[in-house]
Amino acid sequence: MKKELKNLMIIAMEARKYSYCPYSNYSVGAALLCKDGRVIMGSNIENASYGATNCAERTAFFKAVSEGEKDFVAIAISGGFKDMESDSFAYPCGVCRQVMREFCDEEKFKILVVKNEKEYEEYLLKDLLPKSFGPNNLSG
Ligand code: THU
Repeated sequence: MKKELKNLMIIAMEARKYSYCPYSNYSVGAALLCKDGRVIMGSNIENASYGATNCAERTAFFKAVSEGEKDFVAIAISGGFKDMESDSFAYPCGVCRQVMREFCDEEKFKILVVKNEKEYEEYLLKDLLPKSFGPNNLSG
């Protein structure tokens, strides 16, 4: 695997430290690689109302888009119980997959689901969100 993607996995694991998850105690970190080489971190941010919780992946995407980034190469995601090493693969939820679909090429955008530096799975967006609805459906 390319050094750039290995580094992305390490940043996703690091991003878990900034998770705000007092209700589930499940911390998720994400690292989003932009085409210009910039890496944007995200973590899950929970809320006492539960429904206002934001996932790590969407935090990263919304930070990036709100700062002018719109071209993305890959995202790495790492999740597990707070203050513990991840012992399972934290796949992105359906809403986050749909947000990825808004901005990314489903044939090219890579999703790395990371347990640790040695154990990870690599997908394309189209693998995790097949037959999707996207911006092209609404353009003539
Ligand atoms: N979570 C994420 O951050 N990303 C996902 O794709 C799935 C779930 C968070 C939301 C919530 O804070 C915690 O994990 C437990 O659901």
